[in-house]
Amino acid sequence: MHGRATAIAHPNVALVKYWGKAPGPHNVPAAPSLSVTLDAFSTVTTVASASEDSFALNGQAVADAKVAGLLLELREHFALPPLRVATENDFPTGCGLASSASGFAALVTAIDGCFGLGLTMAERSAWARRGSGSAARSIVGGFGVLRDDGTDWTAEELLPADAWSLSIVIGVTSTRPKAVGSTAGMERSRLTSPFYAPWVAATVADYAVARRAVTEQDFAALAKVSESSCLKMHAVALAAEPGLLYWHGATVDALHRVRALRKAGLQVFFTVDAGPQVKAVCAAGDAEAVRAGLAELPGIEFVVVSGLGAGAACTA
Ligand code: PMV
Repeated sequence: MHGRATAIAHPNVALVKYWGKAPGPHNVPAAPSLSVTLDAFSTVTTVASASEDSFALNGQAVADAKVAGLLLELREHFALPPLRVATENDFPTGCGLASSASGFAALVTAIDGCFGLGLTMAERSAWARRGSGSAARSIVGGFGVLRDDGTDWTAEELLPADAWSLSIVIGVTSTRPKAVGSTAGMERSRLTSPFYAPWVAATVADYAVARRAVTEQDFAALAKVSESSCLKMHAVALAAEPGLLYWHGATVDALHRVRALRKAGLQVFFTVDAGPQVKAVCAAGDAEAVRAGLAELPGIEFVVVSGLGAGAACTA
């Protein structure tokens, strides 16, 4: 057991979306999901024993109810001292770039390392999930799935980061925090959207199709199911009461541009999470053309090209 430990984790982007929880605690998803972990963005979290709990994000002390809640749950299972948690994100937080995914993956991994909890990868994934559902998938690298493993909902690495030469081109339209966070958005969708039940059923089917597409490295099949899952998720959200509109005008322009690039022969498809950013998944060889195609659109603030990243790990 050490007095401190540091872990790194990367955000992930879901291609088959997680959008809805089973009723009850612990962020148990209503359906499985599939994602790709990015290497362009990182969260680095250091935890250390202290005289009282504290949490700092990019050097600023913050009160984060989700972090506090996860520490409370961990302490029901492990004898943890008061903790000083310091997290650094090298990308904007809370605007649809999955900072909570890398954040909780790094936090759980650092705590496991610091106190020698001896958690398996699946156990770290389940704990990260309690902080933020999508964080379960940032424990693994490359392509990951979050599914019921028979005991709990945990992530599994379907394909390692170096197995398939793809890029994720991220068109950022705004770095302002989103108006409705994913937990509230999911709950509103579950309670009020008339499309919620069909969405959950469709996601189970989409997950099976996407899983096969990833293991067979079938780009066209993955493109079809991923765009469909994204558009269905936003349809469910739009139909909630009041409707959840995460897109900006520039978001829609970028979706059209991605489809135009595909029509022109590039291997590329889009996905959008609970925010206005567009993520274009493409063959690595097409990344520069996709970057240029998005960057020239008015309303795109900046574009980041990412490769596939590794799972969460302790660095010290
Ligand atoms: O993990 P949460 O609670 O931030 O929810 C993630 C929701 C989406 O990013 C929209 C979809 C997903 O599967 O990551």
